[in-house]
Amino acid sequence: MGGKTDLTLRNYTTADRDQVVALWDRCGLLVWYNDPDKDIARWIENPSSEILLGVLGDEIVATICVGNDGHRGRLNYLASAPEHRGKGFASAMVSAAEDWLRDRNVPKVELLIRENNLGVKNFYRRVGYHQNNCHIMQRWLIDGMPTPANDAPRTDGKLENTITYLEMTERPLQQIPKLTGDRTVALLGCKQPPLSFYRFLYNSVGEPWFWWERRTMDDESLQKIIHDPMVEIYVLYVEGAPAGYAELDRRIDKEVELAYFGLLPEFIGQGLGPYLLASAIDIAWSYSPERVHLHTNTLDHPKALPVYQRCGFVPYKQENIIIDDPRLTGAFPA
Ligand SMILES: CC(C)(COP(=O)(O)OP(=O)(O)OC[C@H]1O[C@@H](n2cnc3c(N)ncnc32)[C@H](O)[C@@H]1OP(=O)(O)O)[C@@H](O)C(=O)NCCC(=O)NCCS
Repeated sequence: MGGKTDLTLRNYTTADRDQVVALWDRCGLLVWYNDPDKDIARWIENPSSEILLGVLGDEIVATICVGNDGHRGRLNYLASAPEHRGKGFASAMVSAAEDWLRDRNVPKVELLIRENNLGVKNFYRRVGYHQNNCHIMQRWLIDGMPTPANDAPRTDGKLENTITYLEMTERPLQQIPKLTGDRTVALLGCKQPPLSFYRFLYNSVGEPWFWWERRTMDDESLQKIIHDPMVEIYVLYVEGAPAGYAELDRRIDKEVELAYFGLLPEFIGQGLGPYLLASAIDIAWSYSPERVHLHTNTLDHPKALPVYQRCGFVPYKQENIIIDDPRLTGAFPA
């Protein structure tokens, strides 16, 4: 059995692309909101970063991306091929990246671990890292965010998803934001919507975010929910066209769930989301519930979670699930 001593380290070249992306895929490092090709281009075009590869013969078995901003070094995409785990390959990659930084006189190094990958903390502790008490703040600087639907399905047909449950137990102080511009905007309660209209809303709003549950629900089951007198659907119209909707579910006493909420893709980025959300929250509190709650997941728009928190929702539970990719089960257009 080969050991760490067989591992050769070298820098990435463009010919390595397919093997590297396949390795990242096998190691669960690919997520829909990070395009690996764009990330590779960023790392190799930037003189302050490098992609280091661990190679056995012709086979790339480990990677690490290292970069620095002059003060701190950063590590990304640490991967060790599943069949070679426990041979010290990852620790060799981390050491090589640290040497790369030392050669550039960088005094410290850091990395981010996704919340659904916390097991890897033990690896980093083992190789000398500790958790510090800084908070990470970030914002996206690019428009036209990729969506999960743009990403190719994984080879194992699965999708990873972290669900965050949020609630508020008091009516928030925030007012409904004023809309700018002279468009005619109306929010109308839609009593017992025709199934076809509801399906149009659900499918159009949810397509980029993989809302699939109700796509696969038969008419009778769906109608039972959306025609329940305790389920309310509010449709946002802009210049007469449906632009989004919010669904309030009051079937549990003293609770209102914001079961669905979203805009059609054409209406995202125009200030309508906060307006629709604040309006839905206002309607929810008009019933004087003990709590208003919702859940969102990592397949939803990346701004959904911070927007909900800004409106006063507080996370109280999180769970990681793995689902069958709805594009492969036939529930969703491929
Ligand atoms: C985490 C990962 C890189 C470790 O790769 P590896 O090649 O098995 O790691 P090594 O063999 O170099 O392990 C070094 C030490 O850490 C320990 N270790 C490795 N993974 C560990 C884990 N998940 N939990 C606890 N200890 C771990 C090893 O036992 C070894 O200890 P030792 O020095 O006492 O023998 C690999 O599991 C991986 O690719 N995971 C998926 C990708 C990923 O999560 N990357 C990090 C993103 S932040």
